[in-house]
Amino acid sequence: MDVRGTSQSINKIDADAIAVAVFKGEKPDDGVLKTLDKAVDRAITSIIKSEEFLAKEGETAYFHLTDSGLQAKRLLLIGCGERGEYGPRQISQMGGTATRFLRSKAAKTIAIVPRADGDVERVAQTVIGGAILGLFDPDKYRTREKEDRQVERFDVVIEGADQKALQRGAERGRIIGESANVTRDMANEPGGYLTPTEMADRAKQIAKQFGLAIDVLDQKQIEKLGMGSFLGVSRGSDEPPKLIVMKYTPAKKTKSDGLLALVGKGITFDSGGISLKPGENMELMKYDMSGAATVIGTMRAIAQLKPSIPVLGVAPCCENLPSGKATKPGDILRAMTGKTIEVINTDAEGRLILADAIAYAKKLGATQIIDMATLTGAVSIALGDVNTAILGTDQNLIDSFIAAGKEVGERFWQLPLDNDYTNQIKSDIADIKNVGGKKAGTITATAFLKEFADGVSWAHLDIAGTAWGDPATPFRSKGPTGVAVRTLVEFIERSAAQNAS
Ligand code: BES
Ligand code: MG
Ligand code: ZN
Repeated sequence: MDVRGTSQSINKIDADAIAVAVFKGEKPDDGVLKTLDKAVDRAITSIIKSEEFLAKEGETAYFHLTDSGLQAKRLLLIGCGERGEYGPRQISQMGGTATRFLRSKAAKTIAIVPRADGDVERVAQTVIGGAILGLFDPDKYRTREKEDRQVERFDVVIEGADQKALQRGAERGRIIGESANVTRDMANEPGGYLTPTEMADRAKQIAKQFGLAIDVLDQKQIEKLGMGSFLGVSRGSDEPPKLIVMKYTPAKKTKSDGLLALVGKGITFDSGGISLKPGENMELMKYDMSGAATVIGTMRAIAQLKPSIPVLGVAPCCENLPSGKATKPGDILRAMTGKTIEVINTDAEGRLILADAIAYAKKLGATQIIDMATLTGAVSIALGDVNTAILGTDQNLIDSFIAAGKEVGERFWQLPLDNDYTNQIKSDIADIKNVGGKKAGTITATAFLKEFADGVSWAHLDIAGTAWGDPATPFRSKGPTGVAVRTLVEFIERSAAQNAS
């Protein structure tokens, strides 16, 4: 995909179509909107005046241009709501709407005019990131009625802006957007195709392409490390487990000797195991590896953006299936740390594989850990598909993470993690149990992880409610969302900048 930042006047843009942001209640009486309105014989004024187009978020109005004096032959107005509420999320969504609408009209080159205030590099990154996210469709296995129209180029247009900054932002947006789409593609893959082995192969391919170190531990090595908790989940399956370990190392040595690790849940299919899930919607459990895919997508982005701090990525991958070998409710597992776990419900498997993966990240020297997982159905009850839950033991880390999310237009909401919740996961016969009862399911799952994250700065993201989008919106297809990739990249770059100053 070709992306360009351009500060040229809108009249000179040679794209198939121009998409421009329009705000509620505004008249096209200044700047680029005025130029466009003039070029289309006041059609913008007219459609606003007639109240056909109110510029509500996601609303669109589309024109064919003849003799307009513009090079482009199509114009799309994109409603962006109130001017005062136009922030990163809206800017990104505007880019996605431009892509999805204009691609359906066969536009190959699309010029986007975001009309946002503030840092041009940042605006370009945000809008192009959104435009690239708009390209994703989950229809890869359709042979008919498949979206096969291709966009070849995006231009972000900010008249008179610093050309170099614009171009830099556009490139960054492309890298981050494409990496999030890699995450989404993995999350969308059926369990039958994307096995733990296939997932490891894809991670290897990415590592090779972008110059990351990678180590994939197989069943024997996982056994040798004593990861009884991880293996207890994998046992019911004929597919061997894989522990993917990726590392990004900056060219220049950093001042601090801290190490950030990203740890992601990689259940390539979650049937629930012996505590089998009901059949309804079980097909969706192919996306239970979204945490691992988020780690891999983020590593792919930072390998290209090259922040000045090292980052470790750890992704335990396996299937959760019932069989004659499967772990049973009541069984006891021994984690790598030596902690014993009573398995109450084999469907609470995410925390079991993360326990060993978090412990392993510490063993590899991590001083700060962010883990991410489609961990609980309960998080959807609490926060729906709007906010991702964040919990942890380091309030500074949580605050900076939420702030990074704001900068890129992703929403996180903190849930409490008082020590009292740990009472719910005490077992009568082992150190802890893997289910804490009906109350506060998302929190007790996190309290379980906390048992393995002691001694480091740690935060956990429960993406079960936000990693899958249904229904489709004007800016995004139905299906995997790639949530948290953009925030993780932003957080890492901010940490690097802080480390340098
Ligand atoms: N993968 C599920 C959580 C999930 C549910 C993700 C819905 C996405 C959508 C997880 O492994 C699970 O099954 N959790 C159980 C835990 C329970 C048995 C304590 C749940 O949430 O029901
Ligand atoms: Mg489960
Ligand atoms: Zn699961």
